[in-house]
Amino acid sequence: MTSSEIRQSFLDFFKSKEHRIVQSASVIPHGDPTLLFTNAGMNQFKDVFLGSGKRDYSRAADTQKCIRVSGKHNDLEEVGFDTYHHTFFEMLGNWSFGDYYKAEAIEWAWELMTEVWKLDKNRLYATVYRTDDEAYKLWKRFLPESKILRFDEKDNFWEMGETGPCGPCSEIHYDRTPDMSGVKLVNAGTPDVIEIWNLVFIQYNRKQGGTLEDLKAKHVDTGMGFERICAVIQGKSSNYDTDVFMPLINEIEKLSGKKYSTELKNPDDVAMRVIADHIRTLSFAIADGAMPSNEGRGYVLRRILRRASRFSKNIGIKEPVLYKLVPVLVEIMKDVFPELTSHQSIIERVIKAEEESFLQTLERGLEIFEDIKNRLVQTNKNLISGADAFQLYDTFGFPIDLTELLARENNLTIDKAGFDEKLEEQRERSRNARKTLTKDVEIHDIKAKSVFIGYDELSSEAKVLYVNGNQIILDRTPFYAESGGQISDTGTITLGGQKYNVIDVRKYGNAIVHICDTEVESLIGEIALAEVEIDRRRNIMRNHSATHLLHEALRQVLGEHVKQAGSLVAPDYLRFDFNHFEKVNDDDLKKIESVVNEKIFQNIDVRTDVLPIEEAKKTPGIKMFFGDKYGDIVRVVKMDESFSQEFCGGTHVKNTSEIGFFKIISESSIAAGVRRIEAITGKSIEEFINNTQEKISGKQSEIEQLQVQIKQLEKEVSSYKMGDIKTQMQEWLKQAKIINGIRIVSQKVESDDLEQLRQIGENLRDELGKQGIGLIASILNEKVQLVCVVTDDLMKKYPAGKIAGEAAKQIGGAGGGKPHLATAGGKDISKLPDLLNNFESMIEKFIS
Ligand code: SER
Repeated sequence: MTSSEIRQSFLDFFKSKEHRIVQSASVIPHGDPTLLFTNAGMNQFKDVFLGSGKRDYSRAADTQKCIRVSGKHNDLEEVGFDTYHHTFFEMLGNWSFGDYYKAEAIEWAWELMTEVWKLDKNRLYATVYRTDDEAYKLWKRFLPESKILRFDEKDNFWEMGETGPCGPCSEIHYDRTPDMSGVKLVNAGTPDVIEIWNLVFIQYNRKQGGTLEDLKAKHVDTGMGFERICAVIQGKSSNYDTDVFMPLINEIEKLSGKKYSTELKNPDDVAMRVIADHIRTLSFAIADGAMPSNEGRGYVLRRILRRASRFSKNIGIKEPVLYKLVPVLVEIMKDVFPELTSHQSIIERVIKAEEESFLQTLERGLEIFEDIKNRLVQTNKNLISGADAFQLYDTFGFPIDLTELLARENNLTIDKAGFDEKLEEQRERSRNARKTLTKDVEIHDIKAKSVFIGYDELSSEAKVLYVNGNQIILDRTPFYAESGGQISDTGTITLGGQKYNVIDVRKYGNAIVHICDTEVESLIGEIALAEVEIDRRRNIMRNHSATHLLHEALRQVLGEHVKQAGSLVAPDYLRFDFNHFEKVNDDDLKKIESVVNEKIFQNIDVRTDVLPIEEAKKTPGIKMFFGDKYGDIVRVVKMDESFSQEFCGGTHVKNTSEIGFFKIISESSIAAGVRRIEAITGKSIEEFINNTQEKISGKQSEIEQLQVQIKQLEKEVSSYKMGDIKTQMQEWLKQAKIINGIRIVSQKVESDDLEQLRQIGENLRDELGKQGIGLIASILNEKVQLVCVVTDDLMKKYPAGKIAGEAAKQIGGAGGGKPHLATAGGKDISKLPDLLNNFESMIEKFIS
């Protein structure tokens, strides 16, 4: 069968199964800003899978032009070095939109392959997702279990890109080994056993951030490599040997005077395959409206062209040659893809011009590369520096992957990080240059009109109206451009598969201009996805609504004279300047806060009216800011109509409760009679509380540390005291009266508390050793405290408790305790000297 017949038989087969045969979509995914190029047949049905679009059929089939050179699906590296990967290929596909599912998909695939195309059943294997028992069981109807293999996410879970429809899949592989021994080679990356068909069971949507969401319905999405099935049916071991490529290869042979062999590693063959592959990508992309350029999608094409151009040089061709292949390609493809015929001339002209321009520097660049290489070889090194790679890029137009290719061929590597650094430096330079050069000037002449939809939406698709360097204008946008004190939104714009960071937004006339941090590819007329950084914007809205509440609270607490003199609404705080003659005192600040918070707690819906200015002005109590210019039609934002109504174009919360909480963090003077309040709301409060708490607990632990220190010092002091007392005690012993051989000590001491006094008593008892009785006294809390001690040998006869009780009586108190040590207390301080002086006579009496 010829390739045309194979393609047709696929479509006829699915037509007989009631599929609508549809046209291939463009290789440039005009409606999908998340993709650079169409990378699968299902791209044009993404909306149906996600449930946001409908078709008037539930089964479809087609051949889809695909390009896989970027993002999740990128086969560029393999192309030419093997015989079955391509940057451009046709994908034959059939789809069910919530109609049939796994059983029919598998059964029909088997029927087409074995009954219509009569492939050898013994050469087929099926793979299923590791947990997909359902598919496994279905395959058992056709294949022995030894030929049904389970694989994990890497091979059997198909995803379109970082986000989008996805699901488990089941692949069909074809064994080309002579003895059909290839079961171990499935998914092993060899041409002996190749994947020919992928049946995807789409049931999820991969969301930003990685989570999987169940789709409302289950769908089938299959894709077969057309060039591969042609090789299989035509009994060729290489896709390039089929009638899809042979005319191109033959033409390249003619132009170069080289012969194409079937030796896989022959460099001339590699070159011819690369050229045959790349010319298809270039031609189809240009036919569908893309152009080689310096950014985004256009740069991918330029890279591919330069790669092909360098390979043409490898096979000895010195002048532009790629464009000469276009007529051959058109001839092969024109019946299925008439767009090639209608764009043939432009495709040729564009490719030729690109080749001419690159050939001017290619020769010299290759010489430089040789120098770099020789330098490395001489010094026994193999790493090409970032600076060298950048020189090749910047001066000689060598895309980094071309230099990488040259490096690989010469067993060298590149310092890619170093290259990226240089590239970033250059971008920074041109950004800065642009900042000074293209500021507003060009954009002023723009007639573009953008509709601001960011009151209700934070993400939206929109048409590109204008691109200038890093500035882009859309027909509608959720991005707020700085005005009325509210600062601009930030976020991203996705366009042509590239994500650009929006770092500022400005209004010029009727146009809203997004300023990105890099140059934007000029894809005017295409659809972009504009996404505001949501959390940041929510914080801005909280602060803006809080500003209105603050304005009224100030008037209520400080007086009607308060007028707004300026404001700033940022994501992390708000600032409000107003006329007032003196510092706002703390009490008033608290009152103001509490008025605002009361309004937050009241869950008041925030409403907006758009009405003629004359009418709006009549509203009693309405606030307008003299610093703003207003048009004929104004927007009035209301929070509890009797409380706050203000002219305002800014974005606000839907209900005051979303503000969460309001806290003033500073009050100051900025000019004579003008005060400034800075405040925070919502999320910032969380941070504020956490910081405050941290500060408090910092102080707390400082205090705890100090307390520990104090205790420590107290201990030290008391041990010093104790040391002193011990020396004193020697004096006491010397002065002791001796009665009946018993030493009697009675002394007054300084002590801090009863415990210390008791401790002194214990020490005294130790010092006395034998035959001793002691009485010590301190004045504590304006009372006399006594401790009486008796040595072990006497304590039975003269228990300390008794002596203490007796002594206490003399000072108007009482006491008691153990025989060796007892305490007592009394109020009569004046009697203490007598007690101490007469203690020995008291003991004497006691003895007798
Ligand atoms: N979307 C799947 C693939 O590209 C099947 O068409 O492999």
